[in-house]
Amino acid sequence: MSEMVFEIETVSAGATRRVGAALGDSVHSGDVIVLTGDLGAGKTVIAQGVAEALGISGGVTSPTFNILVVHRGPLELAHFDLYRLEHAWQLEDIDFWGVVEGDSVSLIEWGDRFPGSLPSDVLTVTLTITDDEERHITVSASGVRSGRLAGEWRERCEGLDGVTLSRQEGS
Ligand SMILES: Nc1ncnc2c1ncn2[C@@H]1O[C@H](COP(=O)(O)OP(=O)(O)O)[C@@H](O)[C@H]1O
Ligand SMILES: [Mg+2]
Repeated sequence: MSEMVFEIETVSAGATRRVGAALGDSVHSGDVIVLTGDLGAGKTVIAQGVAEALGISGGVTSPTFNILVVHRGPLELAHFDLYRLEHAWQLEDIDFWGVVEGDSVSLIEWGDRFPGSLPSDVLTVTLTITDDEERHITVSASGVRSGRLAGEWRERCEGLDGVTLSRQEGS
């Protein structure tokens, strides 16, 4: 069960990247974040913001062809893109569970493709294209850990340039 925690609108890729950086400032070792949304919605832009906040230098691009790219740093970032995986059993080939249950921060683009393979406590970020430069972002949490992360992240999104927090749980 996943509960929606808050929603955001962004007006540019830069604004979405700032939202990603706010997430990167909020994560802890072992956090698991699923990024969902159509091609071009901005999943990788979020990942780039997270990487920036974690002080990971060098480019973070979509790991579509590699499926998993691990970025070393004080906090290791495991960036998955499951778009090209056809079967859940292929997750074993990339040691999916070993990584996701380890100390890295895991960002999983297209993680919704294999819902039965995800840990129970994950933060899910759903991006929707609402206009050329605009994105609607929904954040939901499925446990205590992800709920706490969502709360910290939401606070850090307040007042960011080009970012509107449109709603939050209970309001
Ligand atoms: N508000 C926005 N947020 C995120 N990306 C945006 C936004 N407006 C335009 N874009 C563009 O949309 C594309 C998103 O690409 P990407 O992050 O690779 O998508 P995905 O990983 O979801 O397939 C980029 O070219 C980016 O510049
Ligand atoms: Mg991508």
